[in-house]
Parts: sequence; structure tokens; C-alpha cells
Amino acid sequence: MKKEFVDQVFSSVSSKYDFMNDVMSFGLHRVWKNEVISLLKIYKDSLVLDLASGSGDISKKIKEKYDCKCIALDANIKMLELAKKKIDSASPFYIYGTAENLPFKKSIFDYVIVSFGLRNFNDIPESLKQINRVLKKEGTFICLEFSEANNPIFREVIKAYYKVIPNLGLLFANNKIAYEYLVESIINFPNQIELTKKLTEAGFKTIKVIDIIDGVAAIHISKKQ
Ligand SMILES: C[S@@+](CC[C@H](N)C(=O)[O-])C[C@H]1O[C@@H](n2cnc3c(N)ncnc32)[C@H](O)[C@@H]1O
Repeated sequence: MKKEFVDQVFSSVSSKYDFMNDVMSFGLHRVWKNEVISLLKIYKDSLVLDLASGSGDISKKIKEKYDCKCIALDANIKMLELAKKKIDSASPFYIYGTAENLPFKKSIFDYVIVSFGLRNFNDIPESLKQINRVLKKEGTFICLEFSEANNPIFREVIKAYYKVIPNLGLLFANNKIAYEYLVESIINFPNQIELTKKLTEAGFKTIKVIDIIDGVAAIHISKKQ
């Protein structure tokens, strides 16, 4: 049920996806994604999975900065097509698939990166187990996702801003429903502590959390045991 709905949402927003990311985050999502890229220690033979790649921002940045093998996987065809068009190169290699059933052998990736994807997954615990399975021993999982601001007053300010987002969706993309889903998915997503617990349960260790803008978003960096 959620799977089909999420697929419809991303099909309906695909043509305006990059534009709306800039509008809603005031361009800040680019800075946050750059921060993720700056955390990577990639070598020529490294294999990286950009999971829930969407329009391909992470794969594009990896390709521009590193000479390595990269796979972009997403559950939505239109988003994958967007990425192909935007990156316009032989790398990354694109795969249509789902996080809950990753079509890879175990222990092959040096990094799995999920940027603003996890909260959309149909089954987060199973997806985390799959990510753990496909990572090499000591391989790194990096998750960039919306989270919970630490300061209670700022948290209320952010909540008020979230209420505006569906109207931005209506105004700029003529699509209120998709952006209502976006807000709902952010509000329902585990905060930093809860996500750390889920990562531990899925078999990850040495979990480090980097808060962005006091925790409005957070990067969770964890290793496969
Ligand atoms: C908000 S976009 C993020 C795209 C990109 N990573 C970024 O940071 O801009 C979320 C993406 O997750 C994908 N997605 C949703 N559920 C998925 C699943 N179960 N497995 C793989 N991808 C999924 C959607 O199709 C969509 O492209």
C-alpha cells in the first residue's frame, strides 16, 4: 500500500523534483549533500551504492569528485530516467529495484549512501538489514535524512515551516498531496536516537551522528560489524 503510494508520489513530482528541493530547502540540500560527499574516503576500486538515488545528486557528485565504481538504485522509473538525463555519462550504473530486496551478493560495497530516501522505504528495518548484508565488513553506511531539532523553540519554528510546505507544493508544482506526504513522512520518521537504535538492531556499530542546523537534518554514519 505505502509502496504504491510512494511510487505514485515520486512519479508525480519527478518533473519538478530538483526545482522543488531548491525551493523548499532554500538550496541548502546541496550543501548537506556536499557534506556527505566530503565524508567519503574513496579509492579507484571502491564500489559505492547510491540507494534511493532519485534524480542522482549523490551519484553525480561522486562521479565529479572520484574515480570509482558507482551504482544508482531507485524504485521509481521516472526518477531513474531523470538521473540518467542529468548525469549523462556511462557511470553510474543504474538499477531499478527496492531497498527491501537489494539485487546484490553479500559483502560487496565499500559504501552505501541513502540521501533523503530512508523515510520513504516500505520496510525500514528490512532495508537496513539488506544494506548491512551488501556492505563489506567495515564498510560504511551513510544516511542523510530529516531529523529532530534539538532546541525546542527552533523545533516549533520548523514545525510551523513544515505546515507551509504543501502550499509551496501547490504553488510551484500544482501538487499539494505529494508535499503533504513529504511533511507527514518527515514528522513520522525516527529522530536521531530512535534511528541509532534501529541501526544497532540491524547490525551496525560505531554509529556517529552529525546534526545539521541543530538537527533539522542529520547524517548517521555507521559501520558493518
Ligand atoms: C526524496 S527522494 C531522494 C532522492 C535523492 N537521493 C536525493 O537525495 O535527492 C526519495 C527516493 O527514494 C525512492 N524510493 C522510495 N522507496 C524506495 C524503496 N523502497 N527502494 C528504493 N528506492 C525507494 C523514491 O523513488 C525516490 O526517488
